[in-house]
Amino acid sequence: MNSSTLSDKGFTATQTPARVDMKIYFEALENLYHPTDNPSGALPMNVAENHLCWEMLRERIQKVTRENDIPEWVASYTDPSGAPSFREATAGFLSKFLFKVPVVPESIAFSSGATSVIEMTAFLLANPGDTAVIPAPSYPVYTGDIGVVPSVKRYDLQTHTEISELKNGVPISLDQLEKAKTDIEGAGSKFKILILTSPDNPTGAIYSEKQLREIADWCIQNEVHLIVNEIYGLSQIDITHPELKGDYSNPIEFVSFGNLMSEYKSPFLHFWYSFSKDLGISGFRIGLVHSHNQEFLDAYRNAGMGHSISNFTQWVMQEVMADHAFLESYFRAYPKELTQSYLIVIRALREMGIDYSPSYGSLFVWMDISRFLTEKTEKGEEEIWLDIYEKTGILITPANGFGHKIRGLFRMVITGMNHETLQVAMNRLKDYFSQK
Ligand SMILES: Cc1ncc(COP(=O)(O)O)c(C=O)c1O
Repeated sequence: MNSSTLSDKGFTATQTPARVDMKIYFEALENLYHPTDNPSGALPMNVAENHLCWEMLRERIQKVTRENDIPEWVASYTDPSGAPSFREATAGFLSKFLFKVPVVPESIAFSSGATSVIEMTAFLLANPGDTAVIPAPSYPVYTGDIGVVPSVKRYDLQTHTEISELKNGVPISLDQLEKAKTDIEGAGSKFKILILTSPDNPTGAIYSEKQLREIADWCIQNEVHLIVNEIYGLSQIDITHPELKGDYSNPIEFVSFGNLMSEYKSPFLHFWYSFSKDLGISGFRIGLVHSHNQEFLDAYRNAGMGHSISNFTQWVMQEVMADHAFLESYFRAYPKELTQSYLIVIRALREMGIDYSPSYGSLFVWMDISRFLTEKTEKGEEEIWLDIYEKTGILITPANGFGHKIRGLFRMVITGMNHETLQVAMNRLKDYFSQK
């Protein structure tokens, strides 16, 4: 019992910040680096923002509002899981750029960002107290998304003990899934959902088609809902680049889970996406789920009214999504910019002798700085995280919350600043580690 005027969940929320680095992040934003106005300013690399091709997208978005009157339907209510015309334009986009097979618009439902989609999906597929299994390390905020409202527990599946084991993809096995099932059932819960993120946050690893098929078959057999989050699906690194290809001894081809789903059409398979990362418009709050489970889609439509996206946003983005010539040029330019950012960081890490997980995609580099920790504990991690910020102004993502057991691994977001600024950040990091 608590003495608060709030519900038990409300009271817990007063004690649980959405992110532990929020306060320090806002402090860094007040003192941002600028090459001439604030050259010693802060360089936040902790929040998964992508600003690499914003200028290109901004221009295209502004064209919509400049050249068109707002259509009638925009001012009224529409289908809570997405205006039909927006669903159609997005289905065309997914089909052409990601799935490479046709997508039925009715198999898509939208909510305000992947965050809402994750919460809604967990709430509709699992009962309170059920468990979602997530290979570690993974996105810390999944815990709150599936936990706060749906009361679904997170089980961090340990698939490896050394960062080097990620070199050939995520070393997940069916035995590990069986063991997780036994553990979870032994603890009186139910293994209800498996969440894979591909490319992964924070490692940039992807799952091969063979792995996805094996895991999908296992999930269907065991009546576990498998969701693949491809929020970074079009944030792909050029792994054939001469400076990079040596890192990939057995290159894995990225195959969208949406492609396999069109073959399986199973009620246990689902897909998440959002416009926040590949398109870099996290502020627009557009997330979606795609599924062949009609019951789930019906429930989503009925229960999701509080999570819908503004019609104005849907209208603007439907015009952009329907312009495939523009999207082709965007998705030609963006991976080049992303690979360039990745190269700037990898070159610096190689110079410093810091090991990293070779990335196939995402907005991150996952690095091992464990040898610089005073102690290989969470306390040691927090100390170095703060020390890096205090001495260099670089704010990397705190290590806790990713759910793996290895200490001293950190995530850097490489897409929140332009290449020149990223180089400044890497120079500062090189100075810092050279004095360690
Ligand atoms: C794996 C993953 N899922 C979901 C989200 C949240 O996305 P959105 O901004 O669309 O809510 C993020 C954001 O970092 C993420 O990394």
